[in-house]
Amino acid sequence: MSNEKKPLNHLAIIMDGNGRWAKKRHKPRFMGHKEGMNNIRRIALAANDLGIKVLTLYAFSTENWGRPTDEVNYLMKLPINFFDKFMPELMEKNVRVNIMGYADELPEKTSQITQKAMADTANNTGMILNFAFNYGSRREMISGVKKIAQQVKTGKLSLDEINENLFAKELMTAKLAPYEDPDLLIRTSGEERISNFLLWQIAYTEFSFTKKLWPDFNEEDLKKLIEEYQTRDRRFGKV
Ligand code: IPE
Ligand code: IPE
Ligand code: MG
Repeated sequence: MSNEKKPLNHLAIIMDGNGRWAKKRHKPRFMGHKEGMNNIRRIALAANDLGIKVLTLYAFSTENWGRPTDEVNYLMKLPINFFDKFMPELMEKNVRVNIMGYADELPEKTSQITQKAMADTANNTGMILNFAFNYGSRREMISGVKKIAQQVKTGKLSLDEINENLFAKELMTAKLAPYEDPDLLIRTSGEERISNFLLWQIAYTEFSFTKKLWPDFNEEDLKKLIEEYQTRDRRFGKV
């Protein structure tokens, strides 16, 4: 069992370090975000080539609204730039785009472009490129609890019917079925924390932290971390 190649269906990445990448080069932070956006293309294509089924990228957290207005505005424009630039390639590679997060709080244009990217790629059958954008895991769970509570209140559901599967169905990752939970979570930039990302879904996820800043993280780095993941023994509580 332990020598078998571990499936890597769902890879999640906390893309961190754009600001520090820019600072090192004496450039404004937005230049780091721009470079980070270009790197999404590179890593998404590599993940697709490696046969990964779902690539989830943490692009904007519900806490990131607390950044300076200029930076937030720039980050809100990135999906527009990204899909303008890379949509033909995503179509060519049969990639399906999904965006999870609180869409109704995004600027109109950003929300439109993300809806369009999902609609345009809805019939693609390849890798799911899943962006967590204006996503926060605690809030996601509270929303799920409220929906379940509502169903109990109206008598559609009994308390005994509430279980892990039912709860997972109320989370934004339900759309990724059967690959809701990441097998491997990578965080770049040397930070070793979760920052409110997929708290429920990572119960048995393998973690990998790398010092590389996101704009510098390349295909080779990805391959090395995946190879290292393959050597791990995932026990899921068993022996
Ligand atoms: C990650 O890079 C991108 C977002 C959080 C939007 P950061 O902007 O957090 O970069 P650092 O952590 O300041 O270097
Ligand atoms: C996490 O990075 C969010 C994203 C990568 C989108 P942050 O840079 O916002 O996280 P903290 O503040 O270092 O925890
Ligand atoms: Mg950061």
